[in-house]
Amino acid sequence: MLVSPRIARILVISTFSFPIAFAGVVQLPSLVLPASAAAHRDAVEKIFTTSYAAYKKFAFGHDDLSPLSAGFSDGRNGWGATIVDSLSTMHIMGLDDLFAEAVNFSSKIDFSVSQTGDTVSVFETTIRYLGGLLSAYELSDNQFPALLQKAKEVADKMAFVWVGNHDVPYGFIDFSTNSPTISTSNIAEAGTLSLEWSTLTKHTINQTYSDLAVKSLRHIANLAAPLPGLAAQGIDPTSGNFVGGYVSWGGGSDSYFEYLIKYARLSNTDEALFADTWLTAVDSSIKFLLRNSTVGNHLYLADFDSSRKIRHVSSHLACFHGGNWLYGGRLLNNQTIIDYGLQLVDACWNTYASTATGIGPEGFAFISSDGNFTGGSAPSTSQIAFNAQHGFYITSSAYILRPEVLESNFYAYRVTGDTKYLDRAASAVDSFNKFLSTPNGFAGINNVNSASSSKIDDTESFWFAEVLKYLYLTFDDPKHISLDEWVFNTEAHPFKAPAPRLSYGTGTIRPGKPFSPKSGPPLPAVSPNPFIPQTTQPI
Ligand SMILES: *[C@@H]1O[C@H](CO)[C@@H](O)[C@H](O)[C@H]1NC(C)=O
Ligand SMILES: *[C@@H]1O[C@H](CO)[C@@H](O)[C@H](O)[C@H]1NC(C)=O
Ligand SMILES: *[C@@H]1O[C@H](CO)[C@@H](O)[C@H](O)[C@H]1NC(C)=O
Ligand SMILES: *[C@@H]1O[C@H](CO)[C@@H](O)[C@H](O)[C@H]1NC(C)=O
Repeated sequence: MLVSPRIARILVISTFSFPIAFAGVVQLPSLVLPASAAAHRDAVEKIFTTSYAAYKKFAFGHDDLSPLSAGFSDGRNGWGATIVDSLSTMHIMGLDDLFAEAVNFSSKIDFSVSQTGDTVSVFETTIRYLGGLLSAYELSDNQFPALLQKAKEVADKMAFVWVGNHDVPYGFIDFSTNSPTISTSNIAEAGTLSLEWSTLTKHTINQTYSDLAVKSLRHIANLAAPLPGLAAQGIDPTSGNFVGGYVSWGGGSDSYFEYLIKYARLSNTDEALFADTWLTAVDSSIKFLLRNSTVGNHLYLADFDSSRKIRHVSSHLACFHGGNWLYGGRLLNNQTIIDYGLQLVDACWNTYASTATGIGPEGFAFISSDGNFTGGSAPSTSQIAFNAQHGFYITSSAYILRPEVLESNFYAYRVTGDTKYLDRAASAVDSFNKFLSTPNGFAGINNVNSASSSKIDDTESFWFAEVLKYLYLTFDDPKHISLDEWVFNTEAHPFKAPAPRLSYGTGTIRPGKPFSPKSGPPLPAVSPNPFIPQTTQPI
């Protein structure tokens, strides 16, 4: 086709004047892995095969291996959580025989009843079982229709948690009666369904699955929030209202924020609400929640409680935020968000770098010039001494095989190409081999700051699904499971994404709506963030 010189020139100029052509691209395009990475990748695969061999020997068909007692436990309704959660990692690692065996097992799971008689968590079942089945289906090029069939069966049972015309689902359900447990839920449970349920719609052509999950996400995003974009943690599915006004990027809220931007990316929807609400949540977090520690200047996101007080706390779970800000910052082409994201990644890594094992704790807190209130007890003498050395202190000392710090480290490597993230991942692999290994697989530890900590008799399925997958991919060819082609669910199961849009959302911060709790005294005004020079008024 002939293009007139005038039009050609405009195209070239617009490409150079506005870096818009690069919006939507997450990974550093020129990223090349150093040759030294291969040995680390193999070391991660070895941890996986060793862990899974122990699971097969002592726990096959059950949810979790109990590595210390050489037994098993069934905390996920006894459907074989470790097998389904391992599917996508096995495929990515090229463990073909294990994958075939796991597909065969998964194709025969009886989702009509809970094998343990317990109620079923819609959140846990969605992210581990539904997510694991659908991701394995996609990774294996739709070769195993039984995986999709099982995904449909478990979703059809869970769909009963949307009662009447409620937007927000109940969190738990009894599969023997299809009746939900009528109780309060939280935004993580109600807002972490859209990736999995919309992927199910894509493969079944049944729009209902996506509609159910997305209406819950949309409902939460549209409620008046304690701070603009920052939804409260508790939610009552019956009324659709928030319960209390607690704001956090940690457990109970975390993956609601994660999915706002990931759903926008996976669906490429024209509905700007999701990306704009994510941007607004990040913007409010910068304006109201960001703090730096007085020792070491570590950047963290504080919690904000129902009486509108800043709590100087964080957690391993919250540490997904650095990777999520990098991901969304790249999709929105916003360098401010990327820069803060990288600092959050560093502060979370500092919780690993500071302990006797080189592994980070479950819960921790900070002291800043703005105070040290945590909502709990004041820091003890030993915590103050630890803080003086490391710029944070430990409030919950266990490591239960969680992924978030290494997940964000993976995003940081794929986005920047800085080899310091490879060094950090390699250090974690060494620590795992040194401190978590048992004669029967790998176990968590009760105290990350003790080289002789007692161990925990459980190997969570997310060790297989998340920790070992993110570590492996950190050391693998960046074109394999590229962040520009796949969107990870919150259990690290990748879903195939369409080519990215040039932009996500409108790029505008959504104005907050007046927020008032359903009961109790009127709320005080929120002080501006002393860390950031303020242009905004207190709200
Ligand atoms: C679509 O899925 C919903 C939810 O499980 C179910 O009630 C409905 O019957 C399905 N529709 C079709 C056409 O299969
Ligand atoms: C980038 O993000 C910052 C922080 O949330 C926000 O204030 C700013 O408006 C964003 N810029 C654009 C161009 O979206
Ligand atoms: C924390 O940030 C404030 C504001 O930018 C700055 O004045 C202060 O020096 C920082 N604290 C440390 C320990 O660097
Ligand atoms: C914690 O905050 C209280 C109240 O502002 C203050 O008296 C105390 O010295 C602080 N403790 C530390 C370790 O900073």
